[in-house]
Amino acid sequence: MKNIGVIDSGVGGLTVLFDVIEEYPNCNYYYIGDSKNCPYGIKSNNEIKELSYKIVKYLKENKNIDILIIACNSISSTSTKFLQEKFPNLQIIETIIPTSHYTKKYVKNNKIGIIATNATINSHAYENNLKEYQTFSKACPIFVNIVENGFINTNEEEIIFKELKSVLENDIDTLILGCTHFPLLIPTIRKVFGGRIVTSSKAILSELDNILIHENKVGNLEIYTTAEASVFKEQIKNMFHRNEKVNKIELD
Ligand code: DGL
Repeated sequence: MKNIGVIDSGVGGLTVLFDVIEEYPNCNYYYIGDSKNCPYGIKSNNEIKELSYKIVKYLKENKNIDILIIACNSISSTSTKFLQEKFPNLQIIETIIPTSHYTKKYVKNNKIGIIATNATINSHAYENNLKEYQTFSKACPIFVNIVENGFINTNEEEIIFKELKSVLENDIDTLILGCTHFPLLIPTIRKVFGGRIVTSSKAILSELDNILIHENKVGNLEIYTTAEASVFKEQIKNMFHRNEKVNKIELD
């Protein structure tokens, strides 16, 4: 059975993890949310590299992972090459290339919106992979805080609408949620955008279809956070309606 590590700065990567487990329960999954250092999207590239290196090192040394899913666009856009160099035998699935491929399959009017963290937008990773299209990008770091705090009130909805305005007014038919936290805001985004929404989890799943096979086996799931386990457990309950065991780990 494959051992798969899934990483993010916090709860966002769980939007990928739970979709992947639903499709491929026949693997062992080890999730680490680095909540102590969340958000990553406003940190420098070097800081993101250092933090993600520690997480992957832990997973490689303690969980013997064969595959790493970088369920975080901020890590994917800044640190994939670095992590692959550090862990040459690890099969790494990141978000940018699969999401760009997936988007190309569906965009109709050549206009693509991209919302993500500062780290991802500043890397121009999506624009570079979607050069033949007109792209409209916006960093929305506040969305990460809204999700991590797990509470959408009317004020926060207004903030989300305001942030989205400059992207949506360009007649886009496809919107890339270039941050794995953002799918948790889809019910709000749907109030102002009716086109196609592309998430990292859809894109990663289409990539995994080339790598994993379906078998009649069920693997284990272990979830770790670098902050308080009880808080993370509560976030999972509120956001995903799942009762999961969470352990705290120290990576320093
Ligand atoms: N969920 C992450 C991403 O996809 C990181 C968000 C953050 O920590 O800023 O970019």
